[in-house]
Amino acid sequence: MNWTDGYVTDIGYTYGYYPELNPARIRMAFANAGLACPGIGTACELGFGQGVSTNLHAAASTVRWHGNDFNPEQARFARTLANASGAGAQLEQDAFASFCTRDDLPQFDFIAMHGIWSWVSAANRSIIADFVRRKLNPGGVLYISYNTQPGWAALMPLRDLLVQYTERFSTAQQGSAERIDAALAFAEQMFATNPVYAQANPFMGQRLEALKRQSRNYLAHEYFNRDWQPLSFADMRACWTDAGLSFACSADFRDHLDAANLTPAQSEFTRSIPDAGFRQSVRDFMVNQQFRRDYWVRGAQALTPPQCADVLEQQAVVLLTAAEQVPLTVEHVASEITLNRLIYGPILEVLADFRPHTLAQIAAAVSARNLTFGQVRESLLMLIGTGHAAPVQDPAVTLAAGGTSAALNRYLLEHGGEVEHLASPVSGGGVAVDRIQQLFLQAELAQQHTPEEVAAWVWKQISAHGKKLVTGGVRLEQEADNLAELTRQATRFAATRLPLLKALQLL
Ligand SMILES: C[S@@+](CC[C@H](N)C(=O)[O-])C[C@H]1O[C@@H](n2cnc3c(N)ncnc32)[C@H](O)[C@@H]1O
Repeated sequence: MNWTDGYVTDIGYTYGYYPELNPARIRMAFANAGLACPGIGTACELGFGQGVSTNLHAAASTVRWHGNDFNPEQARFARTLANASGAGAQLEQDAFASFCTRDDLPQFDFIAMHGIWSWVSAANRSIIADFVRRKLNPGGVLYISYNTQPGWAALMPLRDLLVQYTERFSTAQQGSAERIDAALAFAEQMFATNPVYAQANPFMGQRLEALKRQSRNYLAHEYFNRDWQPLSFADMRACWTDAGLSFACSADFRDHLDAANLTPAQSEFTRSIPDAGFRQSVRDFMVNQQFRRDYWVRGAQALTPPQCADVLEQQAVVLLTAAEQVPLTVEHVASEITLNRLIYGPILEVLADFRPHTLAQIAAAVSARNLTFGQVRESLLMLIGTGHAAPVQDPAVTLAAGGTSAALNRYLLEHGGEVEHLASPVSGGGVAVDRIQQLFLQAELAQQHTPEEVAAWVWKQISAHGKKLVTGGVRLEQEADNLAELTRQATRFAATRLPLLKALQLL
């Protein structure tokens, strides 16, 4: 076995941010599931990739983070971010086999891994399970995401064929990206002959098209490892029960809303199942689940209904998208859901000042519109699940994490890389800020205030690198056109995004 252990290493992973790894979200999810949330002082992310999530969470809170990833370039990048924020995250370039058996790690209140479990060997899975068994504190929470069934059933043979193709026909000179291109081109030729597999699985042609559009970095890590194993909820339950944990709830807040996921008949059928674990398995069939994001807990502590209500009422939330830009149609499970304007409109109006409001305050403000606390709670679960709102952490933590968040954000702005999220000490997590918005923020820091000043400043930066704007697929060649477009975008940014980013204390 070499250090890569069958894992793709010649192509770096993407720079994604995953809010489910944010400890500040656990309290609300747990209270909604009737459970008490432990205090989270120490946390560990196994296989942190580029370390974007770990570093944003470390910088935006007072949680002491540890983590590992065996890819040297990724670990180096992650450590650079940790140094920039000064948040003290201990990030090791280490394989699971050695990291998980170190004797210098603390006990953890939260252990998290995203995009790991289905992509590592059975031997690594048992090393990780043993780590969780030994290192998770009583009351502690495990977050784990994984590919699952039945959603992967139809695609599995195609994935196997793509991997077989790369194993048989690639040359030593080809990197992962070239091998993937060749395998996808082969599959396309095969689909052009209309094989009976494609007829029996009519969505597979579309899936192949979608694969072709995805980044090779993502595809390499998602599909082309030696190890790739969708696991059922029942497999997971057996594993984590052995490690002394029980299922808490989904970390995807949308999953908490049966009405958004299941038809009334499916809901009634699922609810009639007495065994909670088997109910999850049946639910996976109802939604053809492909990817689960779950919280498990060591020693679940049930709350009484009044205690749950109290925690939820006191939970504050903020918007991550300006109220008027929150879309009221949502793609979910098998269909598009339209959110009720009569419910969401008044709630978004309350949150439109970008300040934290507790659910109780929101409910009081919308009660005159005949909206109930239950509707407020469900709407917020949906808004958080779709990434347009976030639970707020304790104000003392926000205050304490202001310096480390600002230090990380300034580094990310100045080094203009691939990371498209910045840290908010209000939510304790990342906020999407794309590259052009980052340049607008830099202009703001450079004391450029009017849209014209901002546009001129940004144009100076991008034209110095020989870059030009592209709008509607057309590259703008003339300076005047670039400045006009930048001024238009800067005006919109100043009106709809900047006040929100300031309220989230990104700078
Ligand atoms: C699909 S990526 C997910 C990365 C990150 N958790 C995220 O979601 O952005 C899987 C990560 O696991 C790391 N990895 C795979 N096998 C490993 C091992 N045996 N020890 C340590 N890290 C490993 C890879 O380097 C890669 O960064």
